[in-house]
Amino acid sequence: MNSDSDLQIAGDILEVVHLLQPEREHPSTVADFAGLARTIAADRPRWEHLVRYDATTRWYHRLRTGPGYEVWLLSWLPGQGTGLHHHGPSSGVLTVLDGTLTERNTASGPSGPARRVLEPGAQRVFAPGHLHEIVNDSLEPAVSLHVYFPGMTEMPMHAPARTAARAEA
Ligand SMILES: [Fe+2]
Repeated sequence: MNSDSDLQIAGDILEVVHLLQPEREHPSTVADFAGLARTIAADRPRWEHLVRYDATTRWYHRLRTGPGYEVWLLSWLPGQGTGLHHHGPSSGVLTVLDGTLTERNTASGPSGPARRVLEPGAQRVFAPGHLHEIVNDSLEPAVSLHVYFPGMTEMPMHAPARTAARAEA
């Protein structure tokens, strides 16, 4: 475990859906938000039909808003990525729904910058100011779910404004 306040879940969380806590109406703690993300991840009919892929820009859709948080659905074609960014004062929970994503950050260890390969069911919790880059380095599309708290008033990954307008559509 790194010192940057993250959480890595080993194995496939979707295999233990029956152990999950019921979804709370208004999550407010990191554990609540992680639980909310796992609940949505396990409820495929809730998000699968909404996913779109866009070769010209990363695609995202605001799935849900609540008091103090937002839930975003993102798709990633092979090669699409964010560039290095952070989420300002917001914390976040990233959950991979489909495909494989790679996270890199600038925290250097004995083998250089940290790099994590995130498979479906993998979940990462980001503290405010956590600097990272997410990219689909694989040959298949990927889908991920992002909870931000407080909610992002801009786009979840500092995307261009024109993309923000698309996400609202
Ligand atoms: Fe991010």
